[in-house]
Amino acid sequence: MNKTITVLPGDGIGLEVVKATTVVLDKLAELYGHQFEYKYADIGGSAIDKYEDPLPPETVESCKNSDGVLLGAVGGPKWDNHPSGLRPEQGLLGIRKALQLFANLRPVTGHESLTDSSSLKKEVVDNVDLMILRELTGGIYFGKPQERRQMDGEEAALDTMVYKKSEIARIVRQGFEMAKLRRQKLTSVDKANVLESSRLWRETVEEIKQDYPDVELEHMLVDNAAMQIIRDPKQFDVVVTGNMFGDILSDAASMLTGSLGMLPSASIGEQAPGLYEPVHGSAPDIEGQGKANPLAMISSSAMMLKYSFGMLEEAETLDRAVSDVLSAGHRTGDIAKEGETILSTDEMTEKVIEALKK
Ligand code: IPM
Ligand code: MG
Repeated sequence: MNKTITVLPGDGIGLEVVKATTVVLDKLAELYGHQFEYKYADIGGSAIDKYEDPLPPETVESCKNSDGVLLGAVGGPKWDNHPSGLRPEQGLLGIRKALQLFANLRPVTGHESLTDSSSLKKEVVDNVDLMILRELTGGIYFGKPQERRQMDGEEAALDTMVYKKSEIARIVRQGFEMAKLRRQKLTSVDKANVLESSRLWRETVEEIKQDYPDVELEHMLVDNAAMQIIRDPKQFDVVVTGNMFGDILSDAASMLTGSLGMLPSASIGEQAPGLYEPVHGSAPDIEGQGKANPLAMISSSAMMLKYSFGMLEEAETLDRAVSDVLSAGHRTGDIAKEGETILSTDEMTEKVIEALKK
């Protein structure tokens, strides 16, 4: 098969983990007789520097005309107070919206040999396997108005948390479908004791539940969910939630796997190609030092093989390679324990390539 992939390295360690991933993908393509063609485009801070625009129109065009999109990470202190008022994150939010990628899949799978690098007890995190399904194109991230204004004679700032019923319904339906393919349990997370948007969310979930009699449904308030994910993560199968709650819970959940450097994600819509990015950010503190853990980006590309290309066997081969590398004890700095040898990004990438076996 021939596939065209738009590659958006972005900022910071985004460049390094994306490079590692294309090298791995090329090896995999060779193994299976596929051809991947990469089109590089700018996003985030680097796009601001070049075009004064965190999401140039050519980038959107390129993404729309490809089979899948790989994104590294965006952001960095350099652009925190950019004179133009532009922010790298606008590029990321913009591309999610432009491609209508409303479903963000963030699987949290603990690898046995890594449970020691988690800050939590081994018996709590061993064999953790949950899926956070985060709504990605609505909620408080996109609600209008979002602005500064004068209020009672002083400066005030305003964000709007808004969800249309159709937006809730389509992500919740995905949640039920996903639970059906897994362990038949769906936890819907909201803040229905305070927020009206959450009360509509909960009502909608109840309605859709009628179509899924075999899936066990539970509603959980987001503050409780944050606590439960740390207390007993194995109670969860699929967790479906809104944009901001999903953002926060997925960072918390990443620690179950030992490091934010391990968590992949897929963002999918109804039509446009899916976008695949690690959950971690651009990590400006270690940028350009060859220290970045490429595994979250590599695992994200395995999700691309599976969800966008239908290459199930190839995806499995790649996931297995990552898993074997970890079992063999290879570690980047973020997942290494005292005294363990620390591999560079390139060395870790080389280990994954060596472990690729049909
Ligand atoms: C994420 C990130 C982004 C988000 C930021 C960089 C805008 O934290 O993908 O989780 O909040 O969605
Ligand atoms: Mg986040």
